[in-house]
Amino acid sequence: MSSSLLGEALTLEQLSTDPHPYLARLRSEEPVSWVSVLDGWLVTRRDLCIQVMRDAEAFTVDDPRFSTAQVVGPSMLSLDGPEHRRHRDPFAGALLHAQVRDRFTDRVNQKARRLVGDLAPLGRAEIRRDLAGPLAVAVVSAALDLVEVEVGTVLDWYEGIVGDVDRLSRGEPATGAGREAVIQLGEQVSKSAATRTGLLAAARSELTSKELISNAAVMMFGGIETSEGMTTSLFWHLLTNPEQLELVRNDRSLGRQAVEESLRLEPAAGRVDRYSTRDIDLAGAPIRKGDLVIVSLTAANRDPETFPHPDRFDVLRPNARAHLAFAQGPHACIGIHLAKMETLAALNAVLDLWPAVRLDRTNEGPTGLVFRKPQSLPVQWDPRTHTSQT
Ligand code: HEM
Repeated sequence: MSSSLLGEALTLEQLSTDPHPYLARLRSEEPVSWVSVLDGWLVTRRDLCIQVMRDAEAFTVDDPRFSTAQVVGPSMLSLDGPEHRRHRDPFAGALLHAQVRDRFTDRVNQKARRLVGDLAPLGRAEIRRDLAGPLAVAVVSAALDLVEVEVGTVLDWYEGIVGDVDRLSRGEPATGAGREAVIQLGEQVSKSAATRTGLLAAARSELTSKELISNAAVMMFGGIETSEGMTTSLFWHLLTNPEQLELVRNDRSLGRQAVEESLRLEPAAGRVDRYSTRDIDLAGAPIRKGDLVIVSLTAANRDPETFPHPDRFDVLRPNARAHLAFAQGPHACIGIHLAKMETLAALNAVLDLWPAVRLDRTNEGPTGLVFRKPQSLPVQWDPRTHTSQT
């Protein structure tokens, strides 16, 4: 395919466990590299990643191979140009910073404090499954007005959709569980849009009911695993860097910085995929029309041109917010403010209610080919000093 020697040699194992040294080498030697095991070009330099994500005419998401659209139908995630805006705009207004702050601050903080407070007397927990996962489901449910639906049901829908998307991406047939989940989610979405006053109601007049449901499904799909990973990785970074945790404990306003820096070091969605609409030369790589072009957010976020000492977790880093964890360009994450609020709420609740929180045992750091996070993060604290959980 090309002279991408480093890319040709990469294995899925290397890219899933600790990809950072391999990505660093690619970034400096082959910043757009054909990676055989991914069957696509991997873009690792930050400026090139931005260029690809901003140019939806040359690098589109609108391709029949995109497996999410096969399960949930066309949505903002799988469309470009005016159709993309028509699907996205009805939701985007309600997810701007001020709107999210006014509408969700109390609910998200209360939910985080309740989860953390209920665990407080136990003295130990597993951050991913006991806190980050349930909080992510609760926040997405609140955003989509699905509050009457049991958490377990939302998770079943989510797993049905994700399972079929995964199968299709591996070239296997879908089981139908994804479509069934979309139908059930759709019934609830239609009910909520008609009876409540939130996000869905606002979008209802501008989209058909099918479109409303597809976009609700991608918000659910986009907001659960990513947020769970974002929160779990934050705790992993802080607990494995005790001096940084101490800085945050002593100055809580650094919590926001810690969230950004953790997103930089391990973006929960490590890559976004595009398809080239024409033959194009990108930093010397001969990309062909129809080729898969993978933007490595994980690699871009450690580009030393922008982030000196890129592998260091530093809550005082002045430009941590320049990370690309939420992508850029027309498909930049619509849930940014909600996701940041959620993770910060979890951090504040833990610092308030789990005194001297620490790792329970040594753990592996974040892993995963696309969605990266510590697979589990057991922690302990001293429950006897716990006094109140307002
Ligand atoms: C409440 C939580 C969240 C919701 C509701 C949400 C929803 C969405 C939606 C609907 C999109 C598609 C936007 C479009 O294509 O126009 C999107 C894109 C994206 N989201 Fe989120 N998201 C959430 C949290 C996160 C988190 C925590 C991360 C990672 C740290 C993340 C990373 C991304 C990325 C990288 C994209 C771009 C996808 C692409 O360009 O192909 N999201 N999000």
